[in-house]
Amino acid sequence: MKRFAIKDYGPASDVLIEIEAEPRLMDDTHVRVELTAFAINPYDVALRQGAMRDFRTLKFPYVLGNDGAGIVTEVGSKITHVKVGDEVIVHAVGGTYGEEVVVPGKKIVRKPVSMSWEVAAGAVTPWLTAYNLVTHLLGDTIGGTVMVQGASGAVGSLLVQFLKKQGKTVLASASKRNETLVRQLGADQFVAYDEEDAGKIFADQADSVIDATKGGRAGEAGMEIMKAGGNFVALNDLPSEQKKPGNYLSFGPSKDYSDFDALTALTELADTIHLTIAEVLPFTLASVIAGHEKLEGHPAAGKIIIKKER
Ligand SMILES: NC(=O)c1ccc[n+]([C@@H]2O[C@H](COP(=O)([O-])OP(=O)(O)OC[C@H]3O[C@@H](n4cnc5c(N)ncnc54)[C@H](OP(=O)(O)O)[C@@H]3O)[C@@H](O)[C@H]2O)c1
Repeated sequence: MKRFAIKDYGPASDVLIEIEAEPRLMDDTHVRVELTAFAINPYDVALRQGAMRDFRTLKFPYVLGNDGAGIVTEVGSKITHVKVGDEVIVHAVGGTYGEEVVVPGKKIVRKPVSMSWEVAAGAVTPWLTAYNLVTHLLGDTIGGTVMVQGASGAVGSLLVQFLKKQGKTVLASASKRNETLVRQLGADQFVAYDEEDAGKIFADQADSVIDATKGGRAGEAGMEIMKAGGNFVALNDLPSEQKKPGNYLSFGPSKDYSDFDALTALTELADTIHLTIAEVLPFTLASVIAGHEKLEGHPAAGKIIIKKER
């Protein structure tokens, strides 16, 4: 079974390798999936670079990848919600960069027929993030007006759409080149952070601010946009100096959040949610390296997906 792994921390072309791995053992609560597509996430890039090495120990060679979609080839005896031959969406803790993955049944849902393989694989982590942040982390405290920074990104774009479905007023920022995309997603107001100061334009307007950017100086503007006493949620670092009273929260995955519930919600909204796919690359080591290298820069909006020919 072909898989793509990192043999150490370091640059993509130095440490990503192709390995031949034995099929994993199953138990009665697991499902084996032959993967058709997997996504490359900014998280994989950070993991490969060693950014998490102080608090997450990896055993090399380590197969990256949390997000995938494919066809069920084996089910444990206690699994009743999917069967062999079903097309499914998979959330794994590592291991989707390859031909096959074995995951607990509760981390898998059936893929709607109308959902492409690319979107099914690409939406997993961004959707789990958007859904759990809004539903569980903020919940009833979210308020009527929400600012999404990084609204052109995978997480940000799903946030904009999910919030609009809940009747929120959505303020959004991204770079100018992505303005049309973000407006089409339904944002009520848009500021291009590379041309104007969103902090000044939207000052004190949002009950909740979500910094879904990959970095930069979004935190400063976000604090200006948050109403005093509102919520500020960061997917990466919170602002080092909290200049306004508020509820400052870091979002992270939690065992308290059910993947099954969140992914089921995704399948129910599938026909009305848009996820931009930037590139679909063939199932090769060169593609995985190229995908990682692109994500290290500031690429065009959209997911990079590795897909097998069927
Ligand atoms: N904590 C968690 O559990 C969790 C979960 C998922 C993701 N994340 C992290 O959240 C971030 C977003 O993830 P994603 O998958 O949505 O990434 P993505 O699709 O690459 O989106 C990145 C977003 O950041 C914006 N951006 C990039 N450089 C920026 C800068 N210098 N200043 C302001 N904005 C900038 C981009 O806007 P433009 O391209 O329009 O400039 C885009 O909207 C990543 O860092 C990811 O690792 C964390």
